[in-house]
Amino acid sequence: MDSNSLKKRLEKYPRVKLMWGRTPIVYAANISRELEIDLYIKRDDLTGLALGGNKTRKLEFLLGDALRKNCDTVITAGAVHSNHALQTAAAAQKLGLEAVLVLRGVAENKGNYFLDRLLDAEIRVYEAKTGGELQNYMEEIQRELLAGGKKPYLIPVGGSSPTGVLGYIKAAAEIMEQGRELNLAWDYVVSATSSGGTQAGILLGLKTIAPAVKPLCIGVGDPREELLAAVQGLVQETAAMLELEGGVLTGAEIEGSTIAGYGFGGYGTIVKEVIEVIRYVARKEGIYLDPVYTGKAFFGLLDLAKRKIIPPGSRVLFVHTGGVGGLFQYEDLVSGMLP
Ligand SMILES: Cc1ncc(COP(=O)(O)O)c(C=O)c1O
Repeated sequence: MDSNSLKKRLEKYPRVKLMWGRTPIVYAANISRELEIDLYIKRDDLTGLALGGNKTRKLEFLLGDALRKNCDTVITAGAVHSNHALQTAAAAQKLGLEAVLVLRGVAENKGNYFLDRLLDAEIRVYEAKTGGELQNYMEEIQRELLAGGKKPYLIPVGGSSPTGVLGYIKAAAEIMEQGRELNLAWDYVVSATSSGGTQAGILLGLKTIAPAVKPLCIGVGDPREELLAAVQGLVQETAAMLELEGGVLTGAEIEGSTIAGYGFGGYGTIVKEVIEVIRYVARKEGIYLDPVYTGKAFFGLLDLAKRKIIPPGSRVLFVHTGGVGGLFQYEDLVSGMLP
C-alpha cells in the first residue's frame, strides 16, 4: 500500500488540527560524522502545541473523537512530569473543553506541573505507584463527573489507545513522504517507547507502506513484558480499525523492534550517563533532549551505532518525541550531575 492510500483510510476518523503542519527533518551533521552514519532528526518536539512532543499527534485524533461524541471534559493521567498530561490540558483548553489531570508523584511547583497550573487545569495528585492504579482513579472521577451531568472523555496514560495510535500511523506516512522528498531511503527509524502508542503507530505504519525500513523502539525502563503486550494489543486493534489485518506484525517482529537495556533501572530514573548524552547532543547539534525518554533513547542509538549493530553508512531517522519540560522538572537533580 502507498502512503496516500494509508492516509485515505485515516480520513474516516475525525481529527482536530493541533499541529502547525509537518514537523521538520534536520540532518545532524556533527554526530553523523562521529558515528559514521547519516543521522537525521525528525523534530516532533516542534509540533506547535504547548512545549511540543509526540502526544500532539495522538491528541489530534483523540480530541477529534471527544468532540464528535460531544464530550465537555477530558480526563487523563500520568506522572507529575507527564508531557502527555500537559499537552492534553493545553489542547483541551484550546478547544474549549475542561481538563482533569490525574497525576502521581511529588507535586513541586516546577517543570510541566507548573505549566499545567498556568493552564488552569484541574489537577489531582495521588500516591499511586503504577499507571494501572491511576486508571482506577480516572474511572472514579469519570463516575463523579457523569453523576454531576458532565460528559467526560477518558484518555489512557500516554494517550495510547487505538484512536491515539492513528496519530503515529499518519506520522509514518509523513516520514516516508519526507524521505522521498529528500531522496533518502531510511534504513532505520529510531524512537523512545513507553506506553507503546508511538511504537504501535510507527510499526504498523511502516509495515504497511515501507516494510524494508527497520523500526528500533528503545524502552525507557518500563517492564518489557507489559510493554510488548500493550504494543501487540494496540497493533491488532488499530489494524482492525483501518482494515490492515494483513499487515499485523507477529509477536517476534514486535519483540525484535523493541530494544531493551537502556532503561537505567526503571522508568523515570534520572542518571548521569543520560545527562552526558543530553549535553553531547545539545553541544553538537543545538537540540535539547529530555532525561526520561529521548535522552535514554538517544543513548541507545549511540550505543547501537558504536557497536555497529546499526552498521556504518546507515541512513537513520531519530524521532525526537519532545519532553524538554522534564529538564526543568528535574533541574536540581540534573544540575548536580553537571561537571
Ligand atoms: C517525550 C516523550 N517521548 C516518548 C514517549 C513515549 O511514547 P509512548 O508513550 O507513546 O510510548 C513519551 C510518552 O510519554 C514522551 O513524553
